[in-house]
Amino acid sequence: MYLGIDLGTSSMKCLVIGEEQEIIQSVSSDDIPLSNPHSGWSEQEPSSWIIALEACLKKLSEKMNLGEIKAISFSGHMHGATCLDSNHQVIRPCILWNDTRSHQECEEIMKDTSVMDIAGNIAMPGFTAPKVLWLKHNENKNFHSIDKVLLPKDYLRFYLTGEFHSDLSDASGTYWLDVEKRKWSQKLLDASSMSISQMPELCEGTDQTGVLKKDIAERYGFSSQCQVYGGAGDNAAAAVGLGLYDEGDASLSLGTSGVIFGSTKKFLKNYDDAIHSFCHSLPNTWHLMSVMLSCTSNVNWFVKTFDSSLNEITDHLNQTIQSQDLIKNAPFYLPYLTGERTPINDPHVRASFHNMGIETNRSSLIYSLIEGISFGLNDNYQALAKTGIQLNNIFVIGGGSQNENWIKLLASILDRDLAITEASDAMAAFGAARLAFLGFNNYKPEDVLSSPLVQKTISSDNNLTGVLQERFIEWKKFYIG
Ligand code: XUL
Repeated sequence: MYLGIDLGTSSMKCLVIGEEQEIIQSVSSDDIPLSNPHSGWSEQEPSSWIIALEACLKKLSEKMNLGEIKAISFSGHMHGATCLDSNHQVIRPCILWNDTRSHQECEEIMKDTSVMDIAGNIAMPGFTAPKVLWLKHNENKNFHSIDKVLLPKDYLRFYLTGEFHSDLSDASGTYWLDVEKRKWSQKLLDASSMSISQMPELCEGTDQTGVLKKDIAERYGFSSQCQVYGGAGDNAAAAVGLGLYDEGDASLSLGTSGVIFGSTKKFLKNYDDAIHSFCHSLPNTWHLMSVMLSCTSNVNWFVKTFDSSLNEITDHLNQTIQSQDLIKNAPFYLPYLTGERTPINDPHVRASFHNMGIETNRSSLIYSLIEGISFGLNDNYQALAKTGIQLNNIFVIGGGSQNENWIKLLASILDRDLAITEASDAMAAFGAARLAFLGFNNYKPEDVLSSPLVQKTISSDNNLTGVLQERFIEWKKFYIG
């Protein structure tokens, strides 16, 4: 059996597969605390990831014998700077992927514009290097204590094995990696005053990175032979879960962040629109990705702030999309609660409702919330299209994929079919388990990575496409950079 551990921003999922890649068990641990000490800041204590892992492993061990697990791998939220000192103790809370404090450091890193060709991307505050350079400028003592910088899921690996490794898909989001050559770049490290000795060793997602530490194996009831494999950043892991690694294989994730992912067999890029150009977690494969920072977090914000519920949101969306008049009279919403990456790369922008009239009510605000997120995704989709990538079947995954009317709205805005699959909310954990399975057995991806069954294909609705495309043009005018 093979265990995939997916460290999400707010919860952890652990999923076990068997020799036929069938799902045997799956558990989760919710409510990993997130702290926002200032507007635009987002931090997490790495100890909370260990607490979540312990809770998941305890639940799992109540359902099965962990001694039967042959190999483990990971998926995790990307970019976070987990800084360890020379005693391998955590120096300060991890600065997360959706923290935007380091925008000035991005400009400093890009003073020599040639760095963009090596990193394949513009430096954005979400990436790891500007966060660490921010520490140099603002927490100098902490900066000078750094012995290693690990990405969040690689800290879990360190906890389990005592080893420092990172896979290439996750390492691509640091801004220290030469993404085309798949190795650390001295020039990029110099640009943020870091050295190669502070980096973990690089590996492919399917490479072995050690075995469990003896005390860990004993504590949780694993075999002392249990092997640990590279893994992937969350989006690349979910792609492996979906079997997406051929040219143009694509997914759209409606999670805390909104991500459109397309696999490529060569290194492509589009800096101007803040498209991410990263290594995939399988050898000789890359991917392009657009990232919208706040996707379902807009929905969670609305539910919390206005004492609403997912049922209420679904009901009002269902009602509004039946009527072109209701759509035409709805206000507009810019979904930029925590700044935005693709395509506007603006850490300072914030969310806003526009065009509210005396007729605006709770129902039309709810509609515009979902429409605004969907328009943001369309903006992402159009930016991705400029790279020339041809996206095949797009699989919709993540928490939001359970809402069919939302997918219908999205399909109508994008004016293309979208596919829903089974088990779509645990794809990253499934992908991580698959990486352990592939690595342990030394299988070739093309021999064992099938795509999941398409549960349903949702097409664009002619009654919606015209009105939505007109509203998208209006929506674009509200953002003034
Ligand atoms: C990708 C990104 C997010 C996080 C959290 O660049 O920042 O997708 O990995 O999911």
